[in-house]
Amino acid sequence: MHSYPARFPASIVHNALDHARRSGVMVRQVADPFCGSGTVTYEASRYGLDAWGCDINPVATLIARMKSAQFDAAGFAASAIRVVERSATASDALTVSSNAARDLSRWYTDEQFSALARLRNAIRAEVDEGGDSDALDFAFSAITKSASQWRSRSTKPAYDPEKKPTSAVAAFSTRCNAMAKAWSSRDPRPSADIRTFTGCAINFSEDVPAVDLIITSPPYATSYEYADLHQLSALWLGLADSRQDLRRGVIGTACRRVNLSIAMRELNPVGIRIVFSLFNRDRALAEAVAAYLLDMQRVAARCRQLLRPGGIAVFVIGNAQLRGMQVDNAGHLARSLLETGFDGLKIVRRNLANKSNTPYRTPTGRLSALPTPTTVYGEEHIIMAQLS
Ligand SMILES: C[S@@+](CC[C@H](N)C(=O)[O-])C[C@H]1O[C@@H](n2cnc3c(N)ncnc32)[C@H](O)[C@@H]1O
Repeated sequence: MHSYPARFPASIVHNALDHARRSGVMVRQVADPFCGSGTVTYEASRYGLDAWGCDINPVATLIARMKSAQFDAAGFAASAIRVVERSATASDALTVSSNAARDLSRWYTDEQFSALARLRNAIRAEVDEGGDSDALDFAFSAITKSASQWRSRSTKPAYDPEKKPTSAVAAFSTRCNAMAKAWSSRDPRPSADIRTFTGCAINFSEDVPAVDLIITSPPYATSYEYADLHQLSALWLGLADSRQDLRRGVIGTACRRVNLSIAMRELNPVGIRIVFSLFNRDRALAEAVAAYLLDMQRVAARCRQLLRPGGIAVFVIGNAQLRGMQVDNAGHLARSLLETGFDGLKIVRRNLANKSNTPYRTPTGRLSALPTPTTVYGEEHIIMAQLS
């Protein structure tokens, strides 16, 4: 229903639950501090387990909330029809900030821009009269790229002047129909308490219960710029004032750097080795990777606090290829978990079958079979760590 990069398969959640049971943990509550599109919270809810998820990206938490929500499909379909009708006569006056308007306008022709502004105003009017704002915002968010000049399937901001974008109203209507159809055919689920909130995994202030199992996939060093990827949705929906706003606190972004002499005092030995080997090739990159590794050490410590005694944390993490060098994200995280007090560490490799035919990335981030300087990791590591 809504694209999201680096989503992981539902089977990981089922396997993690199996692993916890085999390790003698009775799982009642699950958490995902990097919940992205909400795979973990949704799958946990299917077992009737209480779960919470956190992500720094407000577009991710909108998607995650919607994934686990229960809806009146017929009521929503009627609401979507009213929005489409209203949009024909709605004003195209912008309701976003001037910074957001500046960042957005470069991605649309005047005609597309005003069609989306009318749709936005029609959604507002519908919400004022009782329409479901999350569901309508979700459908709107899902079409902001296809209705723009953003290159199709590009995971990096790339303007494509040749692209023939879809009509905003037609795309919105199709998306709403698909959502209503999916909800009406959804199996009933056991009741579970599911919470999703926007915050930084390291220092969110939300009051959450300790859990028995964490299942999560943190960002990898400088691999995706999540803030850039969701800028169109976040700006249109008023979830951020500018692109800059969205980047704040994101782990793994190339924009965040640290002073290397300070980092060297805090990094664990695996982290020091990684940063040293990058330093001679690209100092700025070494500073960004050092920031990432320090953040991941804090993540390990935070996960320890979030778990009940005896609890298990399962991380899905891939190593990165940067400047031709293998960055051992997984080895560093394993070491961080041990240093923070986890024991009983198990690590397995998972081959990414969908990447074996397209092991390269183009400059716009598309997967490619033709060789480019950027190779794609073909495997991920699953790290399972237990508290005693
Ligand atoms: C690999 S994705 C998770 C995908 C998720 N497992 C799914 O199935 O959709 C990593 C996520 O970490 C989020 N993230 C980055 N920095 C964060 C931070 N400081 N706190 C919480 N989430 C963060 C990104 O927004 C992204 O959604």
